[in-house]
Amino acid sequence: MIIGNYNNYHPAPVNFKGHAGCENIITRLGMRESVTTETRFFRDYESIKFGIKYINEVFKNLKEKYFIVGACSTGEDMHSLKMLMGNNPVKITGFDIGKETIEQAKSGIFNLYTPADIKTSKYTRIVDIHTYDDAFLAFDKPDLTPEQKELKKLFNNHFESIDTKDKMIYKLKEKFRKIFDITYAEFNKLKFRYKNPDNSLEFKIGDIRDFKDILPNKKGQLFTFKNSFYHIVTDNNYCTRQELPEKQIKPMLDNIFKNINKSLDKNGLFIMGEKEDEQRTNIHVIAKSLSDNGFIPIRMPDRPYLNIWKKTKEID
Ligand SMILES: C[S@@+](CC[C@H](N)C(=O)[O-])C[C@H]1O[C@@H](n2cnc3c(N)ncnc32)[C@H](O)[C@@H]1O
Repeated sequence: MIIGNYNNYHPAPVNFKGHAGCENIITRLGMRESVTTETRFFRDYESIKFGIKYINEVFKNLKEKYFIVGACSTGEDMHSLKMLMGNNPVKITGFDIGKETIEQAKSGIFNLYTPADIKTSKYTRIVDIHTYDDAFLAFDKPDLTPEQKELKKLFNNHFESIDTKDKMIYKLKEKFRKIFDITYAEFNKLKFRYKNPDNSLEFKIGDIRDFKDILPNKKGQLFTFKNSFYHIVTDNNYCTRQELPEKQIKPMLDNIFKNINKSLDKNGLFIMGEKEDEQRTNIHVIAKSLSDNGFIPIRMPDRPYLNIWKKTKEID
């Protein structure tokens, strides 16, 4: 059994990270696209918590809720929603453009890499940027906040750790070798398995721009497409991420939001990432398109922009 008391481990575990990071995809018109598949559990926590509370109140007479999760990557968004729903029955359909990503999501296995020695630990503490802080779910850390303790309880009800002796070793880039005086970073691999697979989670390959392939046959109360707009509103070149002109993206976004509108019950919610605007995404065009397609923003305090929208009218 690898997992144990946090204090028995070197500090600075790295986080759950979804798929290895990127997937290359040959897609439409023979154009090669590359997508970033990084994700984490409870990402955009304040927003999804708000969404779940809202839906359980507004649709309280609906026994089983239905959610659609676009760009679901390896499934962490879906599991997070399911965990936050607790005993409230819900079915969730997730789709993602990535084939490997969906295969991994279907497996229900999640990996977390933790430094196997002190030197690797020093390296990850500096290099592994802790923007995706969900490793607390896997360790008995003494200083968890009450909220983290609650989430950890949900996580333990939902996942079990699997004994594994797997390691991951990777060669460091020249500049890091000099700084940290090591050639290889060595990690233990912790594995967690979704405990109770049932038919509540469904994973599909699908592109949000080809909505007909993913259109569900029933209406949902929540639709999310988080931290993924940059893949469709920029030139999608990892280095430049140039915004595409508004006249090119507005019709595409209109089509997407018209279809999202059709997939939702009235008063249903659409949620995007809390930091889409930091990902070179022109958030104003997205907001305009949402407004033009039957949605109004719901105010959230402390958000840099409005990322939660409510469907208020049907669109033809
Ligand atoms: C950075 S991840 C975000 C994952 C997750 N939603 C989150 O908030 O952590 C971006 C995901 O968008 C997916 N994606 C990119 N373009 C897409 C498209 N046109 N349709 C569906 N998924 C897409 C990628 O495959 C990738 O898994």
